[in-house]
Amino acid sequence: MDIQFKNVGYAYKGFKEQYHAINNINLTIDEKGEFIAIVGQTGSGKSTLVQHLNALMQPTSGQINILGTTLPSKKKVKINHLRQKVGLVFQFPEYQLFEVDILKDVAFGPSNFKDTKPFALSYAKEALKEVGIDESLYTESPFRISGGQMRRVAIAGILAMKPHILVLDEPTRGLDPQGKDDMMEMFNKIHLEQNKSIVMISHDMDIVATYAKRIIVLDKGKIVFDGSKEELFMHQDFKSFHLDYPTPMKVLNHLNETIGIPKKIVLTNDELLKYLKEVL
Ligand SMILES: Nc1ncnc2c1ncn2[C@@H]1O[C@H](COP(=O)(O)OP(=O)(O)OP(=O)(O)O)[C@@H](O)[C@H]1O
Ligand SMILES: [Mg+2]
Repeated sequence: MDIQFKNVGYAYKGFKEQYHAINNINLTIDEKGEFIAIVGQTGSGKSTLVQHLNALMQPTSGQINILGTTLPSKKKVKINHLRQKVGLVFQFPEYQLFEVDILKDVAFGPSNFKDTKPFALSYAKEALKEVGIDESLYTESPFRISGGQMRRVAIAGILAMKPHILVLDEPTRGLDPQGKDDMMEMFNKIHLEQNKSIVMISHDMDIVATYAKRIIVLDKGKIVFDGSKEELFMHQDFKSFHLDYPTPMKVLNHLNETIGIPKKIVLTNDELLKYLKEVL
C-alpha cells in the first residue's frame, strides 16, 4: 500500500480570489521503508502538501489515493481511519496538549479510533516510553513540564495511535542542539526498528543530510526535485532551489576554493573527516 498524488492541486479560498498553494503534484510514497525530507523556501507549500497525506485537506484539483482510499470522492467515503493510519505531527504540536494529565492526553488519540480504542491506555504507556517520558510524570499536568518534554508528550499522542506512516512538520524547530539530535535519533529508531515510513518537513539541511533517504524540493507549490541526497547536492541547478548545503559540504567547498581539495559529497562530519584523512 502507498499514498499516490495524481496532479494534485490545492487552492485556498481568499476574499476575492483563490490562492494556489500547491500545483500539479505527482508523487508516490510507500507505506514502508521511506525516509523523505520535504524542503523548500517558506511559503513553498510544504505544510499544505503534507496535510493531504492524512486527508486533513483534500485536493481542489487532481486526486490523492491514501492507502486505498481515493479523494476527493463523489460518493461518501470514510476517512476517519486515515487520521489513525497516517500520523501527522504539526509544527509546535505542544500547543495542542489539553488534558488534565500526561497519560490521559496521550491516550486521547487512540481512544478515538476503533482499532486502537480497546488498547488506548497501554498504547499510550508504550508511546510515552518510546519518547522517553518517565512513569513518574504520567499524572503531572502536561503544562507543568519543560517545552522539550511537552513536545515529546504531544508526539507520543500520535505514536499511541500506531500510525503506519509518520508525517512530521518541522519536528526539531525551536529545540536546542542536543534536543534536536535526541528528537531525530528517536524518529530514526522508530524508522529503523519498525520500518515505518517517515515524511518530514525541515529547513535544517544538516538534519536532512543525516537522516533522509529521499528529498523532495518544493518551489512555489511545485515539485522541482525528487531524488537522492547525492543527486540533489550535485545537481547543476542546485542554486535555483534556494537551499543551503549541509555544514560538512560547506566546509569542503571552502577547502576546495582555498586550498584546492577536490569536491565530493560529504553528508556528515564523520564522512568529511574520513575524506580529509584520505586526501591530506
Ligand atoms: N489558510 C490559508 N489561507 C490562505 N492562504 C494560505 C493559508 N495557509 C497557507 N496559505 C498560503 O499558501 C502558501 C503555502 O503555505 P504553506 O504553509 O503550505 O507553506 P510552507 O512551505 O509550509 O511554509 P513554511 O516553511 O513557512 O512553513 C503560502 O503562500 C501561504 O501564505
Ligand atoms: Mg510550513
